[in-house]
Amino acid sequence: MIKPDAVADGNTGAIIKMIEEAGFRIVAMKKVKLSAETAGKFYEVHAERPFYGELCAYMSSGAIVPMILEKDNAVEDFRKLIGATNPANAEEGTIRKLYAKSIGANAIHGSDSDENAGIEGSFFFAGTEQF
Ligand code: CMP
Repeated sequence: MIKPDAVADGNTGAIIKMIEEAGFRIVAMKKVKLSAETAGKFYEVHAERPFYGELCAYMSSGAIVPMILEKDNAVEDFRKLIGATNPANAEEGTIRKLYAKSIGANAIHGSDSDENAGIEGSFFFAGTEQF
């Protein structure tokens, strides 16, 4: 999911290019703006965290681009491509090093397991046909 900072800055295309060049196939993609309530449902696992309110407000502040991606070893390889959550700790050449502004406005989200990738993909694309 490309986050509001990266979409607003016009970095959607550059990020998609990096994703495709890294060998991921885009199975589904769209551009949407979430309500704070819907953003809160997506990040429900973080509901007890002190930054949850800020996270929901931020994630509903502008358009985002969720995608379902396919690749062998996708979860691990995608996390390598995007870099550390805090861009200050992200390696050179990663999406967050290049495009993230802060730990909150960190350009992109990646699922942390195959199970969560399934849940998060369904969150945005349930009922749609994938090809
Ligand atoms: P993401 O991979 O989307 O998963 C949860 C998000 O919470 C994370 O990226 C960060 O953008 C955000 N986050 C984590 N820690 C903090 C923090 N200390 N302050 C604000 N946002 C945070």
